[in-house]
Amino acid sequence: MASAALICDSEPWKDLKEHVNVIEKKHLRDLMNDVERCQSMMVEIDGILLDYSRQRVRLDTIGKLLKLAEAARLRQKIDMMYNGDHINSTENRSVLHIALRAPRDKVICSDGKNVVPDVWYVLDKIKEFSERVRSGSWVGATGKALKDVVAIGIGGSFLGPLFVHNALQTDPEAADCARGRQLRFLANVDPVDVARNISGLNPETTLVVVVSKTFTTAETMLNARTMREWISSALGTQAVAKHMVAVSTNLTLVEKFGIDPANTFAFWDWVGGRYSVCSAVGVLPLSLQYGFPIVEKFLNGASNIDNHFYSASFERNLPVLLGLLSVWNVTFLGYPARAILPYSQALEKFAPHIQQVSMESNGKGVSIDGIPLPFETGEIDFGEPGTNGQHSFYQLIHQGRVVPCDFIGSIKSQQPIYLKGEVVSNHDELMSNFFAQPDALAYGKSPEQLLQDSVPDHLVPHKLLAIYEHRIAVEGFIWGINSFDQWGVELGKVLASQVRKQLHLSRTKREPVQGFNFSTTTLLTRYLEVEPGTPSDSTMLPRV
Ligand code: F6P
Repeated sequence: MASAALICDSEPWKDLKEHVNVIEKKHLRDLMNDVERCQSMMVEIDGILLDYSRQRVRLDTIGKLLKLAEAARLRQKIDMMYNGDHINSTENRSVLHIALRAPRDKVICSDGKNVVPDVWYVLDKIKEFSERVRSGSWVGATGKALKDVVAIGIGGSFLGPLFVHNALQTDPEAADCARGRQLRFLANVDPVDVARNISGLNPETTLVVVVSKTFTTAETMLNARTMREWISSALGTQAVAKHMVAVSTNLTLVEKFGIDPANTFAFWDWVGGRYSVCSAVGVLPLSLQYGFPIVEKFLNGASNIDNHFYSASFERNLPVLLGLLSVWNVTFLGYPARAILPYSQALEKFAPHIQQVSMESNGKGVSIDGIPLPFETGEIDFGEPGTNGQHSFYQLIHQGRVVPCDFIGSIKSQQPIYLKGEVVSNHDELMSNFFAQPDALAYGKSPEQLLQDSVPDHLVPHKLLAIYEHRIAVEGFIWGINSFDQWGVELGKVLASQVRKQLHLSRTKREPVQGFNFSTTTLLTRYLEVEPGTPSDSTMLPRV
């Protein structure tokens, strides 16, 4: 994917830079009065209506952004992704999360090998295993059915599955399939997270799924050892085989940990952690909770968007349009943040998931060829479901700063309520806010813009997920960065291991703190003055 020249040296980039002056003179109010403009800024695909008329763009702005896409070779880059080329060049890998939701008969190759049969081998295995657990034919060490699942994982091995689980929890069909079962997520290495997650659970009826692409992530591995202790101290070490399974690309380390390879669900290095929700990372815990057929529907929805992203013209391509608008907002208009505002409680965990997918992917300072970038990339993503956000941070968006917003609404509620005597149903009340807020922002006293999508609720999670994944890829392709590596986060891991070593030496051998700067030395010394509160051989039984 080598392209030594930076995109900011291209003519379309320079043209857009000049165009900013023109746009800055326009008030959104005036742009919104142009009906023809607004009409052409609505795109409906597969039940999803995107209305980007409240973005600070004219029709010719879109034309200019499309020229930028051409200069950035967006078409070729998408083709390379779908062809399995090693577009994650720093890690020398294909980027093929699209293969995770491809139909059985599709051919998608990485390094000359069709990967779709491997994907379906694992999906079939999940289907079979989850059916056995759910039906009670797979039992725990004491012969009881396993009705509760604790999924251990962090980052991409947690946020995507948590988002989907939350979205399905109140879907009537999914909820029906989950009756009598619990799915919990243990992510943080804080022992409080362990205590909260095992509170009320019985090891005899609990299945633990350890989810880690690398099977080396410090937080996940300590939590996995803690849960292994919880199970074996209650049921004996031989119970681990019945009560612990794993999802990983590192099958050797899984076996070394003591989990039966037969109960390990694989995925591959061409699946980035934050793009892994459609692999066994998400599919296994979700199938255990809801049954495989529900999860399969989810995969099909994401696959529809994969086809749309690949084949639709850029003028009507949702991820492409959204990606170009983000580039325009961040790089040209200089708005560093983006608020994700689903008017749907079921999408409560969407913003945290997108935070990782977006910020870990596109928060980069150098181009894919290693050249320092003279412009900003990535955006600061944050969000809360409406209407909660309105009573929290909207004031700043209304009058303090310009923050591009993604308003996401649904036509139907998963759980409709209409009280006798009320003017509108509860969902209509929610949606009144959804329709009012964007206009308040657009027409208010300061120039703001927003993006408004309207989506039927049952279609939301799977399609939204794939739209945002591809949108983020589009942004990275335009900026000319590698959206699929994450070298920045590695430094923190190295420093944490230095601190861990120090804590061990100080606690066990009373060694003084050394090798840190003044501030950290002082803080660590102060921390070590107090003895830890719990015995080191604690079996971590909950005290709550
Ligand atoms: O935080 C860095 C990271 O590598 C993420 O990219 C990843 O999602 C997370 O850690 C968890 O990694 P793993 O699945 O290997 O435990």
